[in-house]
Amino acid sequence: MQDGFGRTIDYLRISVTDLCNYRCRYCMPPEGVAKRGHGDILRLEEIEEIARAAVSLGVRKLRLTGGEPLVRRGIVELCARLAAIPGVEDLAITTNGSLLPQMAGELKAAGVRRVNISLDTLREKKFQQLTRQGNLTDTLRGVEEALRQDLAPVKINTVLIGGCNDDEIGNLAALTCLWPVEVRFIELMPIGPAAQFGTEAFLPADTVLQRLPQLQEEPPDGGVARLYRLPGAPGRVGLITPLSCRFCAGCSRLRLTADGKLKPCLHSAEEIEVRGLHGEDLRQALLRAAACKPADYGALSRTERSRAHRDMNQIGG
Ligand code: GTP
Ligand code: 5AD
Ligand code: SF4
Repeated sequence: MQDGFGRTIDYLRISVTDLCNYRCRYCMPPEGVAKRGHGDILRLEEIEEIARAAVSLGVRKLRLTGGEPLVRRGIVELCARLAAIPGVEDLAITTNGSLLPQMAGELKAAGVRRVNISLDTLREKKFQQLTRQGNLTDTLRGVEEALRQDLAPVKINTVLIGGCNDDEIGNLAALTCLWPVEVRFIELMPIGPAAQFGTEAFLPADTVLQRLPQLQEEPPDGGVARLYRLPGAPGRVGLITPLSCRFCAGCSRLRLTADGKLKPCLHSAEEIEVRGLHGEDLRQALLRAAACKPADYGALSRTERSRAHRDMNQIGG
């Protein structure tokens, strides 16, 4: 499947729920989100049908996101169904890691290849403050269990927040010396609650290079991150720069929301309904979503907020 700019679309990000057991301050309102009725979110069979249609059009990589995908009932079964689709080469999950200690083994057995785990601070107290109800130990155990189950490469997503965790850049990057993980520093995007943050919170990812001049550049691997390594480290450091340096030219993705809308771009307002579509109608809707992908998401800066009508927990990043 190609978009209007000749980009190959082979990556579908599927948000399976907008619920989460955490309430990260940049992502969710303190009270969380109202649980939708069962009828309001796609059933597992519907997700599988949409994924199959996407794969028939050339999608090779599927990623389950949320909210927190592991709180969705039936998630392991869904993974098994998706992994069994002929043509799926990569099935991955983006998670806060808290449920991996008990679930990593069954996810691996179901055919999940790898996980990306959100971790913004290594300080217990700050972790609780930032996630409002999270526990650092659970997430660290989740990373360890993911490594033990070889859900590799394990990537750690760290959203850089000025005045909050920028003093921990060295410690977070040092995880790559301890474990064969990729620690990716992500520029905070002004979407959802993060759009209300003060300008000091938005740091360019180059801050990491200034703090860690010993980082050595590594060849790109086709993903959104620029890659580096600390001398002798088994793992790598990545920089994801949606604000300071756009990577839209290489965009290969479509997104599916838990309530059955295709989003051509993370930051666009446009959505295409796919619920209730089958066969050729479903394929045509996917092609339409690819065709109307914008060249890039236009202005997005510390003062210019995302045009998406949804919060991050309703898109999945
Ligand atoms: P890999 O396949 O492992 O490279 O994962 P990924 O980076 O595609 O997915 P992940 O869910 O780990 O996302 C990491 C960060 O990149 C999140 O903050 C996402 O919001 C951000 N991100 C992913 N895709 C896009 C995109 O198309 N545009 C923008 N602006 N940010 C994105
Ligand atoms: N800016 C950048 N990254 C964000 N994430 C959530 N909200 C934002 C934001 N405003 C990250 C999460 C998770 C990934 C899916 O997106 O930390 O790792
Ligand atoms: Fe949950 Fe992830 Fe949002 Fe944090 S960033 S509240 S872990 S969905």
